[in-house]
Amino acid sequence: MSNNTLSQKQRQRLLESARAAMRQAYAPYSNFKVGAALLTSEGQIFSGCNVENASYGLTNCAERTAIFSAVAHNGPGLTIRAITVVNDREMPCSPCGACRQVIYQFGSEVTVIFLGANGFKELPISELLPEGFRLQ
Ligand code: THU
Repeated sequence: MSNNTLSQKQRQRLLESARAAMRQAYAPYSNFKVGAALLTSEGQIFSGCNVENASYGLTNCAERTAIFSAVAHNGPGLTIRAITVVNDREMPCSPCGACRQVIYQFGSEVTVIFLGANGFKELPISELLPEGFRLQ
């Protein structure tokens, strides 16, 4: 289990940043705009949105956009403490399987905040992705 409790201020900052990113989404096919914001172990926040493609499978989810942006700005030493995901329909939406694995790559104790059926949920990535893959 992770012991990675966030402050209310950190939660609020992540939520605002994810919502701002969501408004930039490129989602002409699904019309489902998603935003994500992550908090690094050093206290920085990076955000991202979904970017779709006419070849649907090339779509990049908001979570991965945020993670790739963090690496692009800060280099390969990224450790994620928490990541928040929001969408413009305020419907339940947890990270997809591919994003879970990418989140896990940058921290086995990441707190994932997403909309569940009864409002926001906060779960450790180890619960969303048991036995995540690592290349030894
Ligand atoms: N999507 C995300 O960006 N993140 C999620 O957690 C779930 C799905 C995007 C991908 C696609 O652009 C749209 O939502 C519909 O699947």
